[in-house]
Amino acid sequence: MKIVVLTGAGISAESGVPTFRDADGLWEGHRVEDVATPEAYDAQPLAVHRFYDARRAALGDVHPNPAHVALARLEDALGDDLFVVTQNIDDLHERAGSKRVLHMHGELLSAVCRSCRQRSEWTEDLGDFPPCPRCGLTDLRPDVVWFGEIPYEMDRIHDALDAADLFVSIGTSGAVYPAAGFVMHAAATGARTLELNLQPSEGTSFFDESRHGPAGVLVPAWVGGLLG
Ligand code: APR
Repeated sequence: MKIVVLTGAGISAESGVPTFRDADGLWEGHRVEDVATPEAYDAQPLAVHRFYDARRAALGDVHPNPAHVALARLEDALGDDLFVVTQNIDDLHERAGSKRVLHMHGELLSAVCRSCRQRSEWTEDLGDFPPCPRCGLTDLRPDVVWFGEIPYEMDRIHDALDAADLFVSIGTSGAVYPAAGFVMHAAATGARTLELNLQPSEGTSFFDESRHGPAGVLVPAWVGGLLG
């Protein structure tokens, strides 16, 4: 059985990473237009860097939770038959042991040079405008996909959805496309679809089955049921 899992901010919520659209979510304290668009970066690069520098630094205070660990366990069992695509830019899947996660919205621990396009692993602040390790120009931006930009590796994601027998969406509001449309893509190609979320997402009616509760409980239970 080929399984595609889509994760969103809700899977990291119990680790202490804020979500976007819940009460106290990131978009309560910041306007998307000020920090998460190419136009915002052109207008105020330092303000955008500070927003992502703070989030990168905060990764040091959080740890994977049982939901991340369960998906790593599932990867151990299924290998290439599990395809995990995340909208999250944290590294909690990897720290739990997952090795093949596709970060469609980029990663906090990566910087991309706007001049030479090189993507570089990055753990420090970008707000002091350090040089690109490849070309030396001070044109590094966070390697995250902003509103108005195309997510990474959509071809590979579509191929995985085409081949999926089961599509599982975990901890995402279903408010942001193209990820919000994956359930319809998977269903159209014959996959069964399952939602695991704290509450019904915006797309909940598109799923064959929805289970509501914290990811730290629902995901280990689902994986445990699959693996026996
Ligand atoms: N367990 C499961 N689900 C949870 C939990 C939890 N402990 N806590 C919150 N949730 C659910 C919320 O109910 C909500 O439906 O997770 C979802 C989080 O939704 P959003 O904040 O909208 O996050 P996400 O869907 O990942 O956002 C998508 O929007 O702003 C952009 O680029 C950003 O990748 C992000 C994208």
